[in-house]
Amino acid sequence: MKVRKAVIPAAGFGTRFLPISKAVPKEMLPLVDKPVIQYVVEEAVDSGITDILIVISRSKRAIEEHFHPIMELETELEAKGRTEDVETLRRLQSMARIHFIWQPKMGGLGDAILYAKDHVGDEPFAVLLGDTVVTTKDASRPVTRQLADVVEQHGGSAVALQEVSAEKVSRYGILGGDEIAPGLIRARQFVEKPKPEAAPSRLAVSARYVLSARIFDHLEKTPKGKGGELQLTDAMASLMHEEALHGLRYDGQRHDIGNKLDFIKANLYFGLQREDIGGALREYVNSLAAGVV
Ligand code: G1P
Repeated sequence: MKVRKAVIPAAGFGTRFLPISKAVPKEMLPLVDKPVIQYVVEEAVDSGITDILIVISRSKRAIEEHFHPIMELETELEAKGRTEDVETLRRLQSMARIHFIWQPKMGGLGDAILYAKDHVGDEPFAVLLGDTVVTTKDASRPVTRQLADVVEQHGGSAVALQEVSAEKVSRYGILGGDEIAPGLIRARQFVEKPKPEAAPSRLAVSARYVLSARIFDHLEKTPKGKGGELQLTDAMASLMHEEALHGLRYDGQRHDIGNKLDFIKANLYFGLQREDIGGALREYVNSLAAGVV
């Protein structure tokens, strides 16, 4: 079955990024001139997704406004002959069918995904965490596309993996299993934020999933886990006893915008690649590093 739908959880408070995240959704913070969530939506679209459900909550309405047309603005830009800006706005609104749903209480990632049950129905779907941009070495094959290929070929579900250091395993969902092809791991264990001594490996889930719709049955019967929240990892570990779960070590980079240092690094990363400002930014960074400014 083709993967056509995606869910983007974007309801979390962003407590690692206060005070800015109090009234401004962390997903709306810019990487140069585009909000983080636009990069995430573009990754989904470039992976063949045509329908996107964004899970939001209080203080997140700016995300809805970003993807909805504002006719008056378009008319005004058109009257001024700013056709390029009009096209940018129209592309933003026509990339995919984008829907929103409200998560009333912060019950964890698993709880956020459960709100997508009726919308997703009975087909495999992608999950892209709304505060993380993932870039791949081969830009024509976004990580969500690579996961969809795994699921379309092997069935079940798949997650993106990156190796982390032993002291960082307690920050992630950690997957253990057997490597059945280069970079492809058939999961045997999946644990949310284990202590280093209990971790089955150092392979951490990296903000991207393609899930079988059967995950919803497991989310409904999974008890609250780490932090008193419904953990997607726990429901996937339960589903793993019925259907295959694969982990894919991808060749690329994860930019977690939910924390301050990585946000600034990501702005440099994307800024340096830009044709319009890249050269000048490189000069500035070099002079900063040399202690000239
Ligand atoms: C969530 C997941 C975790 C995953 C991480 C990064 O944790 O629960 O399994 O490894 O995202 O993708 P959070 O960062 O929301 O605490």
